[in-house]
Amino acid sequence: MKQRPLRIAPSILAADFARLGDEVRAIDKGGADWVHIDVMDGHFVPNISFGTPIMQSLRSHTKMPFDVHLMIAPVDPYLTQFAAAGADIITVHAEAGLHLDRTLQAIKGLGKKAGASLNPATPVSVLEHVLDRLDLILIMTVNPGFGGQSFIPAMVEKIRQVKALSAGRDIDIEVDGGITVDTAPLAVRAGANALVAGSAIFKGNHAEQIRAIRGACATAV
Ligand code: DX5
Ligand code: ZN
Repeated sequence: MKQRPLRIAPSILAADFARLGDEVRAIDKGGADWVHIDVMDGHFVPNISFGTPIMQSLRSHTKMPFDVHLMIAPVDPYLTQFAAAGADIITVHAEAGLHLDRTLQAIKGLGKKAGASLNPATPVSVLEHVLDRLDLILIMTVNPGFGGQSFIPAMVEKIRQVKALSAGRDIDIEVDGGITVDTAPLAVRAGANALVAGSAIFKGNHAEQIRAIRGACATAV
């Protein structure tokens, strides 16, 4: 199977919330591929971010796919709402409910791409029997809840395991947390093709940072 295209997905969690429309236009012009949208409920993760009203108001500002990362539990009651607010990819945590297979079916039933995310301590094997339902696997390279944390090196081996597990399938492998010009190539070399980056992109010149990450990865494979 040929190499999947590299996707840069800036996380708006690190954006200036008072200027979100401008921020999204800046990453769009700056060469981003997806908008990564981190939804936190203060229950599944120890932080609260934002929900569908923010997504909905951003929808008209860009044509980029909305890559929605739901760090909420329960998740099933909210899927329709996130689909209606403009999500293209809906990723749920394997740890967030007892019935991952049912949740993934519900996302597909809404006509959206389905992703499953794993916290750092969760083994890859939990996805073994739901691969048919997956469009994306999101490997957390930090413990979810906050931007600006450091990449956990042990996750490189986990990316390799996900790559092996999903071999030959039409599944994107995404990493999230502590992704910088230094860590992005490690993730790509191990098999990731979609990179979430919050602080690294929004705390500097967005276009330059996106270009730098892409450049660092170009030689990594
Ligand atoms: C963490 C979020 C990440 C976060 C990444 O719970 O899922 O998407 O925004 O932020 P950085 O890139 O700053 O580690
Ligand atoms: Zn995220």
